[in-house]
Amino acid sequence: MCGIVGYVGPQTPGSRPLEVVMGGLARLEYRGYDSAGVALVTPHGLVSAKKAGKLANLVAELDREPLPAATAAIGHTRWATHGAPTDRNAHPHLSADQRVAVIHNGIIENFVQLRAELTESGVQLLSDTDTEVVAHLLARAYDGDLTTAMRTVARRLHGTFTLLAVHADAPDTVVGTRHDSPLVVGLGEGENFLGSDVAAFIAHTREAMELGQDQVVTLTPSSVEIVDFDGNPIAPKRYTVDWDASAAEKGGFRSFMDKEIHDQPHAVADTLLGRLDPAGRLVLDEIRVDEAVLRQIDKIIVVACGTAAYAGQVAKYAIEHWCRIPVEVELAHEFRYRDPIVNGKTLVVAVSQSGETMDTLMAVRHAREQGATVLAIVNTHGSTIPRESDAVLYTHAGPEVAVASTKAFLAQITAAYLLGLYLAQLRGTKFPDEIAEILDDLREIPDKIQEVLDAAGPVRHAAVEMKDVPSVLFLGRHVGFPVAMEGALKLKEIAYIHAEGFAAGELKHGPIALIEEGQPVFIIVPSPHGRDSLHSKVVSNIQEIRARGARTLVVAEEGDLDVLPFADRVFFVPRTASLLAPLLAVVPLQIFACELAAAKGLDVDQPRNLAKSVTVE
Ligand code: F6R
Repeated sequence: MCGIVGYVGPQTPGSRPLEVVMGGLARLEYRGYDSAGVALVTPHGLVSAKKAGKLANLVAELDREPLPAATAAIGHTRWATHGAPTDRNAHPHLSADQRVAVIHNGIIENFVQLRAELTESGVQLLSDTDTEVVAHLLARAYDGDLTTAMRTVARRLHGTFTLLAVHADAPDTVVGTRHDSPLVVGLGEGENFLGSDVAAFIAHTREAMELGQDQVVTLTPSSVEIVDFDGNPIAPKRYTVDWDASAAEKGGFRSFMDKEIHDQPHAVADTLLGRLDPAGRLVLDEIRVDEAVLRQIDKIIVVACGTAAYAGQVAKYAIEHWCRIPVEVELAHEFRYRDPIVNGKTLVVAVSQSGETMDTLMAVRHAREQGATVLAIVNTHGSTIPRESDAVLYTHAGPEVAVASTKAFLAQITAAYLLGLYLAQLRGTKFPDEIAEILDDLREIPDKIQEVLDAAGPVRHAAVEMKDVPSVLFLGRHVGFPVAMEGALKLKEIAYIHAEGFAAGELKHGPIALIEEGQPVFIIVPSPHGRDSLHSKVVSNIQEIRARGARTLVVAEEGDLDVLPFADRVFFVPRTASLLAPLLAVVPLQIFACELAAAKGLDVDQPRNLAKSVTVE
């Protein structure tokens, strides 16, 4: 997601503000971005520069047209959400009077209403972003005090945001605020810093302060003042950063994968954000496919590879159940070579984190040639697959750096569920209150993922203990089956251990022959409160393999005491609706793989032979 840097220093104008901010942006590059920009406060007012593409483009622009000496600066790397990654949409955004500059990380959900309000009052908006409204609102609210203006505006915003602002009249001040999105203060000598994480300023100071939820911070060269949205002063919490600069880029985690596993509550929450209207109805504005076309769809084919295909397999259960439309899930590289039956009534859903996977892109092209409507579920803005599709539903997982996909998987399932519910709403296969209930359950998922993360000690312990095992099997049933395959894929990819995922019901048709004394087997157990006695069938499976010597590692719902007699280890996850359970059950499997690979001393983020985005067929 977007990187944010702020700096205020000595009041003799110089080049340091720009240098600090550009250095910070370079350290935040790992987050992934598609444009970058800076704004400086100079004795002659605000100046700014911004460019689409990599930081090098902005550097070249600054070489071509150097900016004057300054006393304060803000800088931004943007991961596009609203509006394409262009120069115009890059941050900072300036108010119409050019007196306020703003940068933003997050999504302002009510920006459509705020835009309309500004337009009606005669303000001309120059970008497609949700952020620009904040610059205009701040300019209107400004009455000689930027902090008060920020408090006033922040209270009007819905969604998630970290915002930094500077004003031409306040050359010694940078103001920041946050709601559900991080912002950290760096404390210097005669200068102070702000960053979306400490990587932004770790080269200058390790003394930091965390900003709490719904607080506003005002930085001058010699002071840091924090207030809540009502203006009440807040006692700051100071700490010393003990990471080195490279670890800080991973937010203090040992690997990007570990960090991204911990990002998952946000990945799901952000993917849900902004997709409901005030009446609680799903509004997927991005899906610009005629509703009449979607009403007459008689088949859905999900095309994807690897983890994204497993996300599709999870979604199949839900979409068929909610929409009563047959859903096929096809590995993208198999799809076009088997002469698939595709026509104008087929909706092809292409799922991809990178949006660049060549196999998936080729499947998209083939489907469109056959007359299908193609909808992409993609994480990376500006990538090829959404460009070549009829519609796109973006996941908002943020940049995924580790080769092994984790948070994108959860975000893909979430987005596919939104699509399923949207189709159910459109086609009337579910009552509005049933859809609302599922959405309520979905909204509880981020907190429940956090509970799984907080209770991960025993999984980590088991992983270290098993670091030398030659093979691990994974069993699941119903939505637990693709979860089992995903768990196996994670272990293969990063720990180089032979691993296989099976449908638990298939066990006695062959795979049970693999069970011998000590063979570790993960079993994903369905909820005991679910339908169709699936739970008791899987508990029987555990007994069958345990009787043959397997070491059983059971992922079960909190309070499921039936599994205890047959589990060598049990990892409980919170209770949720059966169809949503994969969003929780997969997390211990991800942690197991990550921890085991680390215990083996392997490069968790860059496993051998693999690339993050596979752009060849
Ligand atoms: C597994 C993994 C891969 C990708 C697959 C598709 O951890 O990362 O299996 O899921 O290569 O990539 P995208 O989603 O970018 O199309």
